[in-house]
Amino acid sequence: MQATRTKERSTYMPLAGQVTNAEDQSDLTGNMFPIGAEVESDKCEVIGEIPAALHGSFVRNGPNPMFEPISKYHMFDGDGMLHGVFFADGKASYRNRWIHSRALDAEIGLGRAVYPGLSDVMNFPSPELVGDAGPIKNPANTHIVRHAGKLLALWEQGLPTEISPDLGTVGEWNFGGKLEGAMTAHPRIDPRTGEMFFFSYNFFAPYLKYYVVDATGALIRQVDIDMPAPVMMHDMLITEDYAVFMDSPIVFNLEGMATGEPMVQWRPDNGTRLGIIPRHGSADEVRWFDVDTSHVQHFWNAWQEGNRIELSGCRFEQIEFGIEAASSDVDSGVGGVGGVPARYWIDLDTGRAGSEFFDDINGEFCRVNDDLTGVRTDCLYMSGFTRDNPGAADFDTVVKYNRKTGDRSRWYAGANGSIGENVFAPDPNGSAEDDGWIINSAHNSESGLSEVIVLDARDIESGPIARVQIPQRMPFGFHANWFPAN
Ligand SMILES: [Fe+2]
Repeated sequence: MQATRTKERSTYMPLAGQVTNAEDQSDLTGNMFPIGAEVESDKCEVIGEIPAALHGSFVRNGPNPMFEPISKYHMFDGDGMLHGVFFADGKASYRNRWIHSRALDAEIGLGRAVYPGLSDVMNFPSPELVGDAGPIKNPANTHIVRHAGKLLALWEQGLPTEISPDLGTVGEWNFGGKLEGAMTAHPRIDPRTGEMFFFSYNFFAPYLKYYVVDATGALIRQVDIDMPAPVMMHDMLITEDYAVFMDSPIVFNLEGMATGEPMVQWRPDNGTRLGIIPRHGSADEVRWFDVDTSHVQHFWNAWQEGNRIELSGCRFEQIEFGIEAASSDVDSGVGGVGGVPARYWIDLDTGRAGSEFFDDINGEFCRVNDDLTGVRTDCLYMSGFTRDNPGAADFDTVVKYNRKTGDRSRWYAGANGSIGENVFAPDPNGSAEDDGWIINSAHNSESGLSEVIVLDARDIESGPIARVQIPQRMPFGFHANWFPAN
């Protein structure tokens, strides 16, 4: 089912957004308000110097609704938009593109939004309006990864959407018919074997499905894993031998949804457990380990040390996503509190597990040098909240931990500055874990200008060594990645 909807550049008609009602929607305020244009710049102005070895593309995904929302808008709802900065020979070019989901194409045909978003998700649009675009929009707005030569834009409740290198939409990809359900926005790719590991969560048992894709892109394994309750699960991990999951108290409220209650609820009685399965194992080989009741939305990395599995991430004591029903008077939005850096461990011999905090800065969007996915990493990168009462879009500080030395270094984006996710681009001529660059987006609320910034990962505190000027505002987004050329 691979539609060919890539737009040829010569015939491409830029889309135009039509959202105006920011005042009515908390998730459209400030830099969460969408932009309305698709633009290109062959040569962006650069302040500083782009490293000559930086050759590839930085692509950032995020929600950017094209039409006036027809119900209470949540940031998870917005149509996916990709912003790409392409680095070569010390220069940078830019383009942004909406992701043409089937549902967005149906709405473009109608000239208005007809999908209601999470607050009223069961209020499906009439098939007479949307044809074969389906009852729920898959906005593909959360992340973008590259595996087996395919760029895949991801949204955790739908199929991946294949994207062309110039950010055109190819169409939904179901691994040649082998993936019938959804795919997490956070698969893990082993750079040594070339395999990709992912999961989906489901409203009905089996609540967790685990998948393995080989280095050629063939989906070769599906394992149905049951759990006590249907939970929202956002990220996973791999070690040398295992895939690792977290079952936490974000429980789907299926009974309540029909009566206007929130879609998910924090239910501490569900507890929190870490689950492991041998990478190529079966359901009867799954082992679960109880840990303190908590949740991790994004993990850094995991690996094995003797009989232990080590992992880390930003730990929440409780998390609320602000997905209130359209009929509710509540409109809390997603808070900008973040999690707190924590290490978790599993002892495979004793069957015990535990956790401990290792800092007290609030943050999120945990990243490492992806060349070390599944093996020990010491350098951890985080987007930090250090100002008082931050909004959800107000990450303000690039934070780096070196767990080996115990050092913490950081760069603050300034009183009017905000940043996105820290993406590590390795130096092809380097050998140390942090030989490379951190690439991020940055926005200044006073000037209204956006940049893509490059920092030396070995020296975060000196700030950006290159600041690529983006020819339009880049709204707050979710995840980004670095795709080296070749
Ligand atoms: Fe995420």
